Amino acid sequence: MNGWQHRHIIDLASFSSEDYAAVLELAERFRSLPVTGARKLPALQGRLVATLFFEPSTRTRSSFELAAKRLSADVMSFSPSSSSLSKGESVLDTARTYVAMGADVLVVRHRSTAVPEQLARDLDAAGERTVVLNGGDGLHSHPSQGLLDLFTLARHFAPDHPSPEALQGKRIAIVGDILHSRVARSNLWALTACGADVVLCGPPSLLPDDFSAFVESPPPGQSFDPVAQRGTIRVERKLERALPGVDAVMTLRLQKERMGQQLLTSLSRYHRDYGLSHDRLKLCGQLVPVLHPGPVNRGVEMTSALLDDLSICLVEEQVRNGVPTRMALLYLMAAAESAAEPSLVSRSS
Ligand code: NCD
Repeated sequence: MNGWQHRHIIDLASFSSEDYAAVLELAERFRSLPVTGARKLPALQGRLVATLFFEPSTRTRSSFELAAKRLSADVMSFSPSSSSLSKGESVLDTARTYVAMGADVLVVRHRSTAVPEQLARDLDAAGERTVVLNGGDGLHSHPSQGLLDLFTLARHFAPDHPSPEALQGKRIAIVGDILHSRVARSNLWALTACGADVVLCGPPSLLPDDFSAFVESPPPGQSFDPVAQRGTIRVERKLERALPGVDAVMTLRLQKERMGQQLLTSLSRYHRDYGLSHDRLKLCGQLVPVLHPGPVNRGVEMTSALLDDLSICLVEEQVRNGVPTRMALLYLMAAAESAAEPSLVSRSS
């Protein structure tokens, strides 16, 4: 995996086309390998992965822990309610405790945007070899979710060779609460980097107009965009205008806990205007898959019938693909850190 430049993984804005290709290729390899029980891969043997989730999580945390275990890493997990945080210890001091115990990778989720990045900077300044993988920070970024969504779409469009090229020229709609969604932001970087055109759809309170320029300049602190040509982003207010001609639809949870004010008049009104159903999907003009990062508010973002229709709804597929995608990230970070590439040979083979 020569060429992997990312010591820490904080944001997808810095990912090049080659980075996406490397992640997807490895994820596909891990997905098709039997990697449980005695057949675990030894790649991260002797390494310690700590999952520090200062915000609740079901999928992301267990997915990272399973991914680490399948690569034979030791895993430690932290939960705020039973920790010294409740005694007033700071987040950074908490993280340093895990570093002192020898953690090689910290997977960090926090409600504040700056936390994983700040931690990465502190570790670098202190000369520590520990790396940080952002498990979701504030409204900013959720790189592993963006990548597993990309992998899921690539597998859908090109099951035999799920590479970034599978997304080239595809039109993907992202519907709902874009403003409060770190998942949407990571998807915007990933999808446009692979040449997909994105149509965003939501009310102005959840989707400000300037999202159409989201990928036009790199974020502060990054000097250039490593992707030469990106797909486009269009903002639409009505599903009737957003859905015709799309190849896939991603809908997002209403982030009620991240809304500072009463942005929505009612959930039933939201469902009426932006909720997906079998009927609504006919607007696409073809049968298209539906994605959602979870957790889903049944009957709000989509009908229960649609959520349970596995022939259309890829929610479970996304969860399944999360494990090999996160294995790929952990593997690439470990490979970048060591002189020799960690072994991909299964223990029993
Ligand atoms: C997302 C998150 O936490 O940002 N969930 C996830 O990681 N699967 C989206 C959400 O909370 O709605």
